[in-house]
Amino acid sequence: MTMPLYVQGAWFAGALLFIFGLKGMSSPASARRGIVIAGYGMLIAIAATFLIPGLQNLGLMALALIIGGAAAWISGQKVKMTDMPQMVAIYNGMGGGAAAAIAAVEFAKGDAHGVATTVLAVVGALIGAVSFTGSCVAWAKLQGVLKKAYRLPAQNAVNVILALVSIGLGAAMVVLAPARPELIYGFFIVALVLGLIVTLPIGGADMPVVISLFNAFTGLAVGFEGYVLGNPALIIAGIVVGAAGTLLTQLMAKAMNRPISNILFTPMTGGAASGEAISGTMKEVGAIDAAAMMRYASKVIIIPGYGMAVAHAQHKVWEMTSILEEAGVEVKFAIHPVAGRMPGHMNVLLAEAGVPYDKIFDLEEINGEFAQADVALVIGANDVVNPTARTDKSSPIYGMPILNADMAQSVIVIKRGKGTGYSGVENALFYTDNCRMLYGDAQPMAGEIIQHLKAMG
Ligand code: TAP
Repeated sequence: MTMPLYVQGAWFAGALLFIFGLKGMSSPASARRGIVIAGYGMLIAIAATFLIPGLQNLGLMALALIIGGAAAWISGQKVKMTDMPQMVAIYNGMGGGAAAAIAAVEFAKGDAHGVATTVLAVVGALIGAVSFTGSCVAWAKLQGVLKKAYRLPAQNAVNVILALVSIGLGAAMVVLAPARPELIYGFFIVALVLGLIVTLPIGGADMPVVISLFNAFTGLAVGFEGYVLGNPALIIAGIVVGAAGTLLTQLMAKAMNRPISNILFTPMTGGAASGEAISGTMKEVGAIDAAAMMRYASKVIIIPGYGMAVAHAQHKVWEMTSILEEAGVEVKFAIHPVAGRMPGHMNVLLAEAGVPYDKIFDLEEINGEFAQADVALVIGANDVVNPTARTDKSSPIYGMPILNADMAQSVIVIKRGKGTGYSGVENALFYTDNCRMLYGDAQPMAGEIIQHLKAMG
């Protein structure tokens, strides 16, 4: 069916807004505006869809919109920042599932005409179905519903066999189009199982990378189904999401120094990890001494990590920073690309607390400055400052770029106890001569430092 010009025009306008929205998201300063612009794009694209002449099931469509919209609105209001990765996972899964469902309807109606269209419909359906079940597993792991990593004997062989069977069934659907219902059912069942089986063995801790990968997949699936439906808004939105997801996945994998194949097929479970034994002892310090070290420093670099997020300590950290700055201390924030548990985790928290963007620096920008810093304050971070990543070839984090906290004159580490980080590796930084441990929950500890700083005037 040829779409009326006003529908096509509206879809095109929606697609343009997606692109402008994404552009806005390239900087924390404009990210909020970018999200709103993209939201308007989505609104226009959905409204235009309702204007397609001769559309049936309008009531069902409206009901789906109301249920989906209400669920998203309520969960969006309630979600805690630390629960954001699983929310992204489940919404992404819904996108993949929707793309697969569109394809399923087209196959059932026998509406995918021509070899090229059928191939794209099959590929989109396969990727969408895998992303759907894979993202559901990712959600369950991050939400703590699934606590174990289930690994089959000969896991990788099973993955390959299932992938080949689903591709074979997909090829049969192209050759035998319009395909019989049994073939369509078989194809979707195998594709859905493939998503489950591939994702179940992956440790919860690797999930952000996997979610980002599925996000890229979902974008592709949506783009392909957009082609099948002749909907330019879906095509452009899908390509934008696919490209952004691919880049993000690559960035995360690079920042962890792990190839994506390694994350998918040789999972790191976060349990006991190997690595060379470390000599020396951890030396404790009190909040008053930590406060004095920073109060009389010229330059302090703060390195936040996952523990700051768990403790919700960002507001206290910013209050502490302001007091130090008023006392003439130069304070900067150093953000590792995979600090925390999701991309941009620390940037979002610091922005929420009101830390100006010009005080926040990426690894490449700040690593050269640690040697001139009097104090590096590590707050709830661990792996991202572990110097064994530079030297210990037997360590699971060997080769991961790290923040050079150990090069500062003195290092203060706020954490609750002797627990390891996400990788399960002991941190050599904590045993160095210039490092002092300030044990406690990040939020009350930052509060204590603030009290001492205030008392010092
Ligand atoms: P981690 O290495 O996970 O270390 C966090 C530290 O915070 C722990 O050692 C813990 O020690 C401490 N902590 C926990 N709760 C705390 C609290 N309430 N108050 C104070 N301290 C607390 O964190 P990181 O340095 O941010 O590194 C992130 C890790 O996650 C990396 O290994 C990275 O590869 C991985 N990862 C990140 C991502 C993304 S995209 N960010 C994705 C996948 C994996 P105690 O228990 O002793 O307090």
